[in-house]
Amino acid sequence: MTGSSFRSLVLATGNAGKVRELTEIFGNVPLELKSLRDYDEINDVEETGSTFVENASLKASGFAIQTGDFALADDSGLEVNALGNAPGIHSARFAGAETGYDIKIERLFEMMQESGTDDRRARFVCSMALSNERGQVIHTVQAECSGTIAPEPRGSNGFGYDPIFIPDGFDQTFGQLSDQVKRSISHRAKAAELIIRYLLDFIA
Ligand code: IMP
Repeated sequence: MTGSSFRSLVLATGNAGKVRELTEIFGNVPLELKSLRDYDEINDVEETGSTFVENASLKASGFAIQTGDFALADDSGLEVNALGNAPGIHSARFAGAETGYDIKIERLFEMMQESGTDDRRARFVCSMALSNERGQVIHTVQAECSGTIAPEPRGSNGFGYDPIFIPDGFDQTFGQLSDQVKRSISHRAKAAELIIRYLLDFIA
């Protein structure tokens, strides 16, 4: 398959934090990056899959068909050992789709306490899927960043569950660590690296 006519890519996420991180990570890739905001009347794609890869694929394919462009979608979340890997694919909707992260984090701490285990191991997982303009998923990747859940929220950098996640090898949370550090070790950075390797071959 040739990718010679492929020069722009839609980052298929409405999450401003993710768009910012991905735009930085894709800095050196010779593709015009677009966001869903560059298109009129884009409908949400339902995340009905049961895995990160399935949901990333549904989004990549659904947004590619709507925009008529190649689309890259990700699906990510936090898996906590003590909660049987919840909230996982439900991380954004955990404790209610509309609740803020202060409430989600409070609920997560309560559930960890109720779990009766003191296992604080956790990981962020990120899958990415690349779809061609016809909605065919042509590549998927998955990567993880392992760590532990902090005893209380710390720091205000990043987004989502960042203030309670201490990546392995550090003693501060993603909420305290700089963007630069997060970009070098995060699940999203690792998944993006794998996708970039594929993209550079594909468009060569
Ligand atoms: P998605 O938009 O369906 O992939 O939902 C991902 C959700 O997982 C986010 O809304 C956050 O709750 C959580 N999440 C994923 N990656 C991160 C991260 O890097 N930091 C903090 N929370 C994250």
